[in-house]
Amino acid sequence: MQRVPDWHRKAYNIASMRRIAQDRLPRPVFDFADGAAEDEWTLRRNESAFERWALLPRPLQGPATRDLSVTLFGKTLSMPLMIGPTGLAGLFWPDGELCSARAAAAAGTAYCLSHGSVCTIEQLAALNTHPRWMQVFVYRDRGLTREFTDRAAASGYDALVLTVDNQLLGNRERDVRNGFGIPPRFTLAQLLAMGTRLPWLWRMRTALPRLTMGSYQREGSREELTALAGRMAGLLDPGLNWDDVRELRERWHGPLLLKGVLHPQEARQAAALGVDGLIVSNHGGRQLDGALSSIEALPAVIEAARTLRPDMTVMIDGGIRRGADLVKALALGANAGLIGRPQLWGLAVAGEPGVRRVLELLRAEIDRTMGLLGVSKVSELGPDLLARLEH
Ligand SMILES: Cc1cc2nc3c(=O)[nH]c(=O)nc-3n(C[C@H](O)[C@H](O)[C@H](O)COP(=O)(O)O)c2cc1C
Repeated sequence: MQRVPDWHRKAYNIASMRRIAQDRLPRPVFDFADGAAEDEWTLRRNESAFERWALLPRPLQGPATRDLSVTLFGKTLSMPLMIGPTGLAGLFWPDGELCSARAAAAAGTAYCLSHGSVCTIEQLAALNTHPRWMQVFVYRDRGLTREFTDRAAASGYDALVLTVDNQLLGNRERDVRNGFGIPPRFTLAQLLAMGTRLPWLWRMRTALPRLTMGSYQREGSREELTALAGRMAGLLDPGLNWDDVRELRERWHGPLLLKGVLHPQEARQAAALGVDGLIVSNHGGRQLDGALSSIEALPAVIEAARTLRPDMTVMIDGGIRRGADLVKALALGANAGLIGRPQLWGLAVAGEPGVRRVLELLRAEIDRTMGLLGVSKVSELGPDLLARLEH
């Protein structure tokens, strides 16, 4: 049994968890998660755009207790926040995906597995945590998309997320600068400079050589991650279109979400095709630099989708670092939010307890924000609690 460090207890907010992770991870690994495309404008904007809305507290409404729960597709979550799909979570901690899924379940919320997880679709399912969602892509070989979808159905996943904004790979310049490869290799100078990173290296000593995207492996022939990652651009089909969504809609009988929707026109079309949910997202700024921030895109997407389908579930990710960020999104009409990087920072710091800590910190902030706003239930959050700032 590996001793789990308790550095995560020192994290008093998400920014401090990020700093602790930065001290613990080799630079190329930290940057792989922390970085984004090109000038990282969209990454910064995702975070800073929440400042365009201010909160309007109503202290005289003081609710004694708050109920943070929400229901998504018939399943109740203890709070309006879940863990979004991040590839190679197992690079940050051995069995990273399993740790995050357990932490989500312990917090009473949902976990979405990435197509690029180190564990397989089936290994995650064997934990029997719920709700568990599965994220897929559309490949040139549509058979592969169908295979992942069918495996998710056979393994009892509760929802399917089709990510639409990653069909051409973004240009992540920190990875270029660091010469980041998968699995990462370090020069002697980098190894000598590692200092506080040595525990990570030690912890990962057996996981690193075996690191791969589990669900892509075939019985009896194991493909090296370097080769698979190199092939990824060729596997994905930039020709993705609405016929693919239509086909997936017919194949997958549970809730289907599109992730990476920013344009109201796409929201409208998704609603017309019977998609159940949208995740307003720009992939954490990792794809199209210059894309609109998620929170700024949210109101128009909600309006477009719900004009056609008033019950459309609209979620958001990108830049949620405070409970108040999420509360603003909920007040604008989102049903719930997802986190990407904060989960990886928690994982890097302490594995499952680190992710639990991230969720606890955000839960406490959401609760406090709702209390100070004079709101006892998520459904009471509305635009009347926000002031839009022009500058
Ligand atoms: C290291 C990393 C890997 C990611 N891998 C995936 C992925 O495999 N599939 C996917 O749909 N999104 C992926 N994302 C995007 C996240 O799901 C999410 O959209 C984004 O991280 C949200 O922004 P945040 O990190 O500011 O919370 C990844 C993000 C990061 C940081």
